[in-house]
Amino acid sequence: MTVQDETTGPMTTEAGAPVADNQNSQTAGVGGPVLVQDQHLLEKLAHFNRERIPERIVHARGAGAYGKFTVTADVTKYTRAKFLSEIGKETEVFLRFSTVAGNLGAPDAVRDPRGFALKFYTEEGNYDLVGNNTPVFFIKDAIKFPDFIHTQKRDPYTGSQEADNVWDFWGLSPESTHQVTWLFGDRGIPASYRHMNGYGSHTFQWNNEAGEVFWVKYHFKTDQGIKNLTAEEAEVLAGKDPDSHQRDLRESIERGEYPTWTVQVQIMPAAEAANYRFNPFDLTKVWPHEDYPPIEIGKLELNRNPRNIFAEVEQSIFSPHHFVPGIGPSPDKMLQGRLFAYGDAHRYRVGINADLLPVNEPKAAQARSFGRDGVMYDGRHGGAKNYEPNSFGGPAETGRALWEPASVSGTTEDHPAPAHAEDDDFVQPGNLYRLMSEDEKQRLIDNLAGNIAGVSRDDIAQRAIENFRKADADFGKRLEAAVQALRG
Ligand code: HEM
Repeated sequence: MTVQDETTGPMTTEAGAPVADNQNSQTAGVGGPVLVQDQHLLEKLAHFNRERIPERIVHARGAGAYGKFTVTADVTKYTRAKFLSEIGKETEVFLRFSTVAGNLGAPDAVRDPRGFALKFYTEEGNYDLVGNNTPVFFIKDAIKFPDFIHTQKRDPYTGSQEADNVWDFWGLSPESTHQVTWLFGDRGIPASYRHMNGYGSHTFQWNNEAGEVFWVKYHFKTDQGIKNLTAEEAEVLAGKDPDSHQRDLRESIERGEYPTWTVQVQIMPAAEAANYRFNPFDLTKVWPHEDYPPIEIGKLELNRNPRNIFAEVEQSIFSPHHFVPGIGPSPDKMLQGRLFAYGDAHRYRVGINADLLPVNEPKAAQARSFGRDGVMYDGRHGGAKNYEPNSFGGPAETGRALWEPASVSGTTEDHPAPAHAEDDDFVQPGNLYRLMSEDEKQRLIDNLAGNIAGVSRDDIAQRAIENFRKADADFGKRLEAAVQALRG
């Protein structure tokens, strides 16, 4: 596809002065040294040196598109969020998909979770739901995240991802068994961003006009159907077309084939949380659908490509702490850590005024904060007073929190997340394994064994296998045999 350059008139410097020659730099005489007075040359080289901003520490590789969310059910008894207040109501969205571990230029077709970061431009401010294509995660406390990601990224000595580090961490973190079983199963390599589900993954708070609290989990079910790649197919595609997912998304929107997802929520009344059989705020667990059946609440459609990838995708920012009235966090320890991590990453990566960029600023609401100045501030507040309270008018606080308060008790110290009656790290991965057909089980075991066989130390491999044995004896037995066959 070609994009027409809409600018007219002569080429200029960044200050707008006409450029006479963009092919030859100025020299002191023919064949002589280059002159510092060549402003155009200096400016061009200097700007080029500064084209990159730090890539995201995780989820560096991604693609995005705009679209709309449409409400299809009455959820006003659960939440007072205005964008969810009426059937048929539409809200503009921007969605960025990503892989997790790879750097900016990494191939798309790899075994890795996919990010599913969604920004709703609501009339009460931007609401971000920064999820994945998996309903669970590897760990359940934010304090482990940097260690976990270090094992997924490049080893400090070899400079490559190392099976030793990956399996050492997973083996020593049995809570990862559920997500790892999921990741090495059929859904571990989606065929494209369009052919996978999205999940909010965490539990969030919804609260209604009367101040009643509900715990919710979001599910985005692809209407394109789930399609995955086998390990062999992915290996070929990653080499042939590293941009396969990004290209597929852009081209399908260019063709007018707009991908859609059916949006569902699981809803738990607040009073049921304390005695639920699983800790409802533990991100390594799902709420089985027989306990809380998903109900349909909306439709998500992507229908417009960004015009400039750097401005709209690379500089887009999504924060789990971007809530709107009627929606808030749960006490999930992972989510709580994320409430800090993202804003901090944005200040480092894009800058203190990242929220002023067109892709990030509210579109249906107006940001009326007293945040001012800093690098690249555009002066949008003019001469308005920059403090509050003041006697000159301007925005004032509302007196109503976005979400309802939680009651707490106990001591301030390093507490693990509380275990409920049926909580252990193995029951849900065991159930997931037993749900699989024989063919699926075989592919899961082959995928895992192929990977674990690359571990250099037997104790690390054995510890990793042990977790799967605890999930299901047959799973462990078959995996051990498959690893042994490969390691000889
Ligand atoms: C406590 C654990 C976690 C921490 C500390 C963390 C931290 C981060 C950071 C620093 C970024 C880069 C943000 C940026 O530079 O713009 C990021 C990106 C992302 N994370 Fe997490 N993360 C955690 C867990 C999770 C979980 C559990 C999910 C999904 C359920 C998730 C989904 C994402 C997604 C989708 C992105 C990419 C957002 C985008 O497209 O810009 N993360 N994470």
